[in-house]
Amino acid sequence: MPHNKRPQLVVLISGSGSNLQAFIDASENGSLDADIAAVISNKAGVMGLERADNAGIANEVIDHKQFADRESFDAELADRIESYKPDLVILAGFMRILTPEIVDRFAGRIMNIHPSLLPKYPGLHTHKRAIEAGDTTAGVTVHFVTSELDGGPAIIQAEVPILPGDDEDTLASRVLVQEHQIYPLAAQWFCEGKLTLKDGTPELNGEPLPISGTKFCSEKL
Ligand code: GRF
Repeated sequence: MPHNKRPQLVVLISGSGSNLQAFIDASENGSLDADIAAVISNKAGVMGLERADNAGIANEVIDHKQFADRESFDAELADRIESYKPDLVILAGFMRILTPEIVDRFAGRIMNIHPSLLPKYPGLHTHKRAIEAGDTTAGVTVHFVTSELDGGPAIIQAEVPILPGDDEDTLASRVLVQEHQIYPLAAQWFCEGKLTLKDGTPELNGEPLPISGTKFCSEKL
């Protein structure tokens, strides 16, 4: 990473962008020593784009519906990402499955956040599934992206209790509070060079991470 400027991030979104906002805030308050070079959304009119505008961050829409297939969308997306020369690509509620081509192009420098304690509940409706299964805890995982959906190696997890009377929404809000802490933190570790992906295994401070990543506790902030 060049020493003369802060690491550059590109953030991919599809919706509300509350995680994007956490990155914007962390970048502004210095807890994340990186700049958001650009925000790319596959959907127009979403709140995340407004958040980028409000923060003066370059943003653009690449509408997947304008492309004949996943491959051509991903090829354009990869070129647009690359044009910002990012050190790290952040998937923050980006609701498109990426092809292996794009994942390989950014291998070791692309992260995702998934609202479950992976490997539990990859895919959609994670909170509903956790409640219906009678789980007593839920949570969120930040992981490096591989071509396996929500299957890349975990970096950090935060756990929350599932309380009596919880529904999807109450649980999602409790989890989101944790998301907004652990995702910029994982990015900061990466930007500091403390976190790397070595032969498919994430290492933090030179030590391989356990299979479900490190456990978040607020003292790590
Ligand atoms: C979050 O729950 C994240 O874990 C998941 O998508 C949601 C995005 O929320 N991948 P937001 O757009 O960041 O508010």
